[in-house]
This record gives sequence, C-alpha cells and structure tokens, in this order.
Amino acid sequence: MDLLNLEDIGEALELLETCWQFRAVRVLMAGHQLRVFEALRTPQSVQQVAQKCSIDPKMTERLLIACCSLGIVQREGNEFSLTNLGQNLLLPESPRFIGGILGHYENLWWFWTGLTEVVKTGRRDAAPSPPKEFEERWHEFWIWAMHGIASNGVGQWIAENLDLRDRSLLLDVGGGPGTYSVILCQKFPNLKAVIWDLPRTLAIAEEVVKKFGMEERITLQSGDWNKDEFGSGYDCLLMSNILHGHESQASMKLAKAFRALEPGGLLIVHDFLLNDEKTGPLPAALFNLMVGAYSVREMLTVIEDAGFHDVRLVAYHSKRGAGLVTAVRP
Ligand SMILES: C[S@@+](CC[C@H](N)C(=O)[O-])C[C@H]1O[C@@H](n2cnc3c(N)ncnc32)[C@H](O)[C@@H]1O
Repeated sequence: MDLLNLEDIGEALELLETCWQFRAVRVLMAGHQLRVFEALRTPQSVQQVAQKCSIDPKMTERLLIACCSLGIVQREGNEFSLTNLGQNLLLPESPRFIGGILGHYENLWWFWTGLTEVVKTGRRDAAPSPPKEFEERWHEFWIWAMHGIASNGVGQWIAENLDLRDRSLLLDVGGGPGTYSVILCQKFPNLKAVIWDLPRTLAIAEEVVKKFGMEERITLQSGDWNKDEFGSGYDCLLMSNILHGHESQASMKLAKAFRALEPGGLLIVHDFLLNDEKTGPLPAALFNLMVGAYSVREMLTVIEDAGFHDVRLVAYHSKRGAGLVTAVRP
C-alpha cells in the first residue's frame, strides 16, 4: 500500500483528532475541580496558583498552558489570569457559570466509560457509577448544567427564532432552571411565564429567577407530569428537552400541553433531533445513544398526531443537532 498518497488523509486526521478530544474536556474538569479558575481572578504566578489550590507546581504550569490554548486563561510572562471568556463561564459568581455542566459531565463520564458494556448488555447500569461526591449531587449539577447551556448561546438562539410579541403567558413545562423563560421574557416585554417542574428543580429555578430580577414576571408551579395536568389558559407553551425520543412519553405530555393551551395557542418544542436518514448529526447521535432522540420527521409526526396544526421546523442548528419546532393548537 502506498502510504504517501492517501485519498482520505484529511478525514483520517480529523478522526484521529476526535479520538483525542476527551483530553481537553478533562482539562476543564480538572481546573474546575481543583478550583484553579477561582484562583485566577487576578494575575497569579504558577507558584501562587499551586499554593492556593494545594497542587503540584510543575503540573499546574502544564495545566495552565493547556487552559491558555483553550482560550480561557491568558499568560503575560510568568503570570496567568482568566480571559473574558474564562471569567464569564468559569467563575461561580458569573450569571453564565458552567460549573454545573462540568459537574454533570463528570457524572456522565462514567456512562461513556462503560459504553462497551452498556451496548453489549443493553443495560445502562452496566456502566460504572460516578464518584460518590458527584453522584450525590446529580440532580443539582444536571439542572445547573441546563442553565449553563441555555445561558451560553442556546437560549439566545431560541429567542432569535421566535416571535412572541403577541403572546402574554408562557408555560415552561419541565422548565428546569427556567433560563429559557428568563431569556424569552427579556426579549418580549409583554410576556409573563410560569415554570412548571418538580419541587426539587423549582428550588433552583427560584434562584435563577431571583438572580435575573424576574420575580414580577415569572412564577413557579410545582407538578409531576406522571400525575398532574399542566393547567389551562396559556397562549404559548415551551417543551425544551423533555421529548427525547420514543421512550419520553411524548404523546402523553403533548396531550396535556394541548389541553393547557387556548385555541390559537403556540406550542414550542426544542430538542435534539436526528436527521431523517438517521445518520447524524454527531451531537444528536451521541445524545440518542445516551438517552434517545427523534428524527425531525418523527418529531413533527408525534406533534401532528397530538392534534396540533401548522407543525413546522422553524430552525435547525446542525452543529448542535438541535431543532426548534412550533405548532398551533386549533
Ligand atoms: C432535560 S431537563 C430540561 C430543562 C429545561 N427545559 C431545558 O431545556 O433546559 C428536564 C426537566 O424535566 C423535569 N422533570 C423530570 N421529570 C419530571 C416530572 N415527572 N414532572 C415534571 N417535570 C419533570 C426535570 O426536573 C428537568 O427540569
């Protein structure tokens, strides 16, 4: 075989690079877990960071160099500090903090570590458990992860692709931290919202709503979709990341959404969606492997089958493998 003239050399290099991606994520996770980013609020030498975090100085420098290459830390001579991006995403006091994402990914790490066994047996519990201190905080990390995702581009993308100027009351079903409600209320001044979720999640939503000064316009309503109706009288209703494919009880949730909306009410669905050939894109394919995902066509059909009209894919983010679908309750 001629190893000099390969037809797929570009794709081969790209695939090799993909094989190594886990290293960069671990840099972020280690920096976060060791509280290195918090130590970098002001410029610090390697020795100062190592001392503040009680970590090895030689490895500290290497970690910091890797952080520079990720664009979250900058270096001036022998001093390191957070870049603007690092400050916005990696300091706990920032409204866009992604600490929840990094904690959540530590938990998910163990599912992916056990993927071979999970695929072999078809059992999710064939994967190893995360370290106890992470597993115990699973719910908290998960919900704050949703906030980190929503507040760093996804919520803005949803708001850009919706026109809710003539809507007045949004029900955010399984609204999690409520960040999408916050962003939509920020964009549409006439809108009020109700975040509907389990009590444990609402405790976090309450913090988020307060943090963004939205108490006057966003209220919380506790409910369990396995038992409760969603209420009634809403002119728009958001279901973000709660219709994850065939095992998500989508028909039951959509029937309740139908009853909660007034005639003419707008249903908004945001979720991972596979392409209709079910060949990708990668983020949707990976989510499907871990949890489940509909294809675009399947999502439109399940919404039509629930009685909604004018069901359409209004935007699709192929890099994220996520789509935004709207429909009208006749
Ligand atoms: C993947 S999160 C989505 C959060 C938010 N909508 C988003 O897109 O960021 C799923 C949400 O569903 C909520 N949830 C799970 N089971 C529920 C149930 N039985 N009744 C009501 N909410 C539930 C969780 O608390 C969580 O907030």
